[in-house]
Amino acid sequence: MSVVVTGATGQLGRLAVSHLIARGVAPADIVAVGRNGERLAELDASGVRTAVADYSDAAALDAAFAGAETLVLISSSEVGQRAAQHGNAIDAAVRAGIRRVVYTSAPHANSSALILAPEHKATEELLQASPLEVTVLRNNWYNENYESSLGQAAQSGAYLASTGQGRVASASRDDYAEAIAAVVTSDVHGGEVYELAGDTAWDGEDFAAAATEVLGRPIIFRSVEPGEHLEILRSAGLDEGTAGFVVALDGNIRDGLLDGPSDVLSGLIGRPTTPLIDTLRKAAAAS
Ligand SMILES: NC(=O)c1ccc[n+]([C@@H]2O[C@H](COP(=O)([O-])OP(=O)(O)OC[C@H]3O[C@@H](n4cnc5c(N)ncnc54)[C@H](OP(=O)(O)O)[C@@H]3O)[C@@H](O)[C@H]2O)c1
Repeated sequence: MSVVVTGATGQLGRLAVSHLIARGVAPADIVAVGRNGERLAELDASGVRTAVADYSDAAALDAAFAGAETLVLISSSEVGQRAAQHGNAIDAAVRAGIRRVVYTSAPHANSSALILAPEHKATEELLQASPLEVTVLRNNWYNENYESSLGQAAQSGAYLASTGQGRVASASRDDYAEAIAAVVTSDVHGGEVYELAGDTAWDGEDFAAAATEVLGRPIIFRSVEPGEHLEILRSAGLDEGTAGFVVALDGNIRDGLLDGPSDVLSGLIGRPTTPLIDTLRKAAAAS
């Protein structure tokens, strides 16, 4: 089996490469792809092959994908350019004769009002229209997205959000990375769309309780309305686009778009998903 992994210099990609090796894929059968040669070189010690390729560079993608059987297409981090970038990777996969693609998408990407869903929906449509065998992993949020909130809570004594009573069924990056490896190394997966989420979901009060336990002092949930949230973010120096994005995402959470705990992810990886508090503990210990 030979597997090419895009986004391998990223946080999820690195973990996916480690889990592929842990699940028996020979390092020499893995091609780690990223834009940055120096970051790719950090993977040399694991024995994997590496290839530098930007999603905009068709020739580099062709060279990177040549001879591979499976492509792990980790969604790009360049919001707004992703559908085109992923389209380039899909075209290159077809040209290279790749049989199968595993793509990391977003929860209910085909039907969700989540502000990040449209690019994932477009990518899923390109994949489904291609001759490739497709497995879609619709990842819910990473626990790690909230490490900075822990830092802010440590400073201010509060977790501030406009999520209302909305819940997030997050899991750790490592959980999602292990699911990639589980799917790639199993023959029973192909043509499926998996909605991956944590075993449990949490809300703002739960976050504050977890932060209280981790930090060892009281943290409150400061629940604010969207308009007030926007003003607070603006006055903290966030640009208009970023502030609007944060408030819109909180609105998506308030609307329940990231709720929906599930045992699909834990079933794939064969263990419970990582609770939010464990990720926060790890972050606090590392800071
Ligand atoms: N579910 C969630 O909560 C959540 C949260 C954040 C992101 N995401 C999505 O999940 C993906 C993986 O997450 P992550 O934490 O691993 O993100 P990350 O650490 O930012 O990694 C993103 C990867 O995409 C690569 N990339 C970006 N633009 C590229 C381009 N033009 N050509 C080639 N490669 C390019 C980056 O390469 P370089 O190293 O060269 O920059 C990096 O390897 C993200 O990219 C995003 O789509 C999901």
